[in-house]
Amino acid sequence: MKKIMMFLAAALMVLVMGCASAGSQAQSAKSSDGAGKPAAPAAAQKKTAVVYFSATGNTRSLAETAARALKADLIEIKPAQPYTEAELDYTSSGSRVSKEHAAGNARPAVAEQADLSGCQSVVVAYPIWWGEAPGVVYTFVEKANLSGKNIGAICTSASSSIGQSGENVAKAAGGRYVGGQRFRPDAPEAEIRGFFSGKL
Ligand SMILES: Cc1cc2nc3c(=O)[nH]c(=O)nc-3n(C[C@H](O)[C@H](O)[C@H](O)COP(=O)(O)O)c2cc1C
Repeated sequence: MKKIMMFLAAALMVLVMGCASAGSQAQSAKSSDGAGKPAAPAAAQKKTAVVYFSATGNTRSLAETAARALKADLIEIKPAQPYTEAELDYTSSGSRVSKEHAAGNARPAVAEQADLSGCQSVVVAYPIWWGEAPGVVYTFVEKANLSGKNIGAICTSASSSIGQSGENVAKAAGGRYVGGQRFRPDAPEAEIRGFFSGKL
């Protein structure tokens, strides 16, 4: 009976375990097969994470819906120094975003680097800034060890399409680009699921 209970508990853990975890938790969540090799249950390897940056909430709404649509873990990319409203004023040449943009290839630090090693697919969600993904998204994906993983991209914007930004993010991540699209912040689950159907 005890053995059956233990088996059921282990099976439940595999079912509920996400593929992504944040910071130090990620280290302790890693398990081992006893021979030093990390355990990699087949189910966990197929999992997806939606990783998002949002300065004013639009992309957060989209990312939350995408995570539900794709049954994915949801991870926020938080800049170490969050952007204030004044810092986001791209009409002012003295604002933080304008200075970062003018500097070119800015890589603002992130507060925490999540462990995505258990994910097979990662969908990166971001607002379009000057036709591209914000620098802080690059900071995250460049350090995330995503090589060989499926990378999708979704974005929000005032009007710009996703353009080359999704491919650029996937390239920086070292992953395999499966496609990307701009969505409305309130896009329905079915629209997002439909776009990624058969891709992840
Ligand atoms: C610095 C900056 C640059 C932007 N550049 C563009 C742009 O090139 N094209 C566009 O359509 N919208 C642009 N926007 C608008 C945002 O993409 C849009 O408001 C987005 O939905 C914000 O997402 P968030 O609320 O998740 O931060 C820009 C916004 C900021 C702050």
